[in-house]
Amino acid sequence: EKAGFEHFMIKEIHEQPRAVKDTLNSVIHDGVIDLSEMGLSDETIRNISQLYLVACGSAYHAAMSAQYAIEDLAQIPVRVELASEFRYRKMILDEKGLVVVISQSGETADSLAALRKAKSMGIQTLAVVNVVGSSIAREADHVFYTLAGPEIAVATTKAYSTQLIACDVLGVQFAKVRGTIDENHYRELTEELLALPEKIERILQDKERIQWFAAKQAAAHDVFFIGRGIDYAISMEGSLKLKEISYIHSEAYAAGELKHGTISLIEDGTLVVGILTQSSLYEKTVSNLVECKSRGAYLMGLTTYGHYSIEDTADFVIYIPKTDEHFAASLAVVPLQLMGYYVSVARGLDVDKPRNLAKSVTVE
Ligand code: F6R
Repeated sequence: EKAGFEHFMIKEIHEQPRAVKDTLNSVIHDGVIDLSEMGLSDETIRNISQLYLVACGSAYHAAMSAQYAIEDLAQIPVRVELASEFRYRKMILDEKGLVVVISQSGETADSLAALRKAKSMGIQTLAVVNVVGSSIAREADHVFYTLAGPEIAVATTKAYSTQLIACDVLGVQFAKVRGTIDENHYRELTEELLALPEKIERILQDKERIQWFAAKQAAAHDVFFIGRGIDYAISMEGSLKLKEISYIHSEAYAAGELKHGTISLIEDGTLVVGILTQSSLYEKTVSNLVECKSRGAYLMGLTTYGHYSIEDTADFVIYIPKTDEHFAASLAVVPLQLMGYYVSVARGLDVDKPRNLAKSVTVE
C-alpha cells in the first residue's frame, strides 16, 4: 500500500505531480478554465464582490498564499480567516461576498461551523474539499473537488498542493471574467499552471541534496522561516511541516517583522530559512538574512534558478524552477516538505503519525 516507499508521507509527496495534474485537468479543457459545473458561471463570478477564505492549519496556509495571488490577479478584495476565529467573531460580511471554506477532510469541526455560519448569514459558499461526500462538501452551495486522492499521513502534502491549485484556478478565472487580465495573459497563466506538475517532478529528483541537509539539521532546537508576501505564506507551511513531525520548535515570520522582537532569539548556529521566490521582494529579504547572519545564524536560502547572488549570503541554497510568481508556493513547498520529512526520519520519529495529532480534527 505504500508502493515501495518507507512512509505514506514520502509516497504522498511523490504523488503531487499526479494530484496537481488531475486537479488541473478536471477544470481546464483545451486550455480553457470552466467552473460552470460547480455553479460558478461567469455571471455568478461577476456578481461576487469579495472573497473570504476560511480554513485551519495547512489549508489556512494555502489560503494565505491564495490571498496574495487572487487579489493581485483579479483585483478583488480577499480576506483570510482562521475557521476557529471566524466562527466566533462578529464579522461584517458583504452579502455579495463568497465564503470559500478550504478543507482536505471536509470534516474539520471549526471549518464546518464557519461554513454553517456563513450560510446562516445568507452568504454564498464554496467548498474546496478533497473527500467526496464529506460534510463540508454536502452543505456548501458550490464544491470544487481537489483530486489528491486519499491522504493517509497526518501531515498534509498532496492535499495542500491541490488546494493551492484550486485557489490559483479561481484567481485566474476571476481575473478573466472581471477583465483584469487580457487573453494573452490568461493563456500564459493557464500554460504556467499546466507546466507545474513537470516542475514539481524535477524538484523531487533533487531530493538527495535535501535529505543530506536535513540529516545535518536533525539536532536543531529552533528554526525560523522568513519571507515576504507569498514567501511569508510558504514560510508558514514550511515551518508547520517541520515542527509537526520533527518536534523541533520552528516559527514563520514575515521577514520585516524580525526586527520587532524575534531577532533576539537568533544565536550562533540557529537555522534561518529564507524563502525568496518573489523577485520584487528578493533584495529586501536578502537584507533580513544578512541581519540574521551577523547575529550568528546559519542560513538556508530557497529561491529560483537565476538568483545566484543568494550564495553570497546563504550557507546552503536550494533552487527551484521559475514559474509565474503567483504560483510559486506550489514549487517552493516541495523542498520544505522533504526537509520536514527527512528531519523526522533522521530523528527516528513516527513520521506518518506524529504524537498528539489526528488526521481529521472533528472536535473544536
Ligand atoms: C498539517 C495538517 C493540518 C490540516 C488541518 C485542516 O499538516 O494536515 O494542519 O491542514 O487540520 O484539515 P482539513 O484540511 O482536513 O480541514
